[in-house]
Amino acid sequence: MTDRNLIEGEAGKNARQPATSDPLALSRRSLLQMAGAAATFAAIPNHADAQPSNAAADAAKPEGSPLRLVVNREHVELAVDPRQSLLDVLREKIDLTGTKKGCNQGACGACTILVDGRRIVSCLTLAAMYQGAEITTIEGLSANGELHALQEAFIEHEGFQCGYCTPGQIMSGVGCISEGHAGSTEEIRFWMSGNICRCGAYPGIVEAVADAAKRV
Ligand code: FES
Ligand code: FES
Repeated sequence: MTDRNLIEGEAGKNARQPATSDPLALSRRSLLQMAGAAATFAAIPNHADAQPSNAAADAAKPEGSPLRLVVNREHVELAVDPRQSLLDVLREKIDLTGTKKGCNQGACGACTILVDGRRIVSCLTLAAMYQGAEITTIEGLSANGELHALQEAFIEHEGFQCGYCTPGQIMSGVGCISEGHAGSTEEIRFWMSGNICRCGAYPGIVEAVADAAKRV
């Protein structure tokens, strides 16, 4: 098409033709009619869905998927939304609020717990993936009324100020020691680098981990 065609309106000629002679327009109309018919069918109630027995069965279902865990040495059975993080299940369904939610994106370590002895960030973990797992949170670290050696060391070395990051730091420190990554200050700093302390209590945290590593 030339510039002249354009200024003479050639491009719009087809648009002025009767709609019924435009094969494209016909196909659009057909599509709309088909869509209308489909909507009509969709609006007709499905007899199977309407059966009262199905509604009763739905009401009887537990909310979410069944999940069994061992949390701090106790067996727990509950129903969870498959989209729920382990952190939210611990805090909101089991009422263990010692594990903290900081960034909720795997970046700060405030939500660190031990699962089957390994440290993980619970905010990035779907609870439904841990059927039967053994979980230890900060609430389960002391035993027989005695604090864990690392909890004692945090107090002795003043490894905290506001305390918000502390449960995650301690759980991560326990993992760091059991992995054999607490042999030197540099090693502790490296292997604890996923745990952020906004108060800057790092010197005390590192000293506490180093001290506890000698005691356990
Ligand atoms: S809350 Fe999980 S890493 Fe920050
Ligand atoms: S003690 Fe306050 S964030 Fe670590």
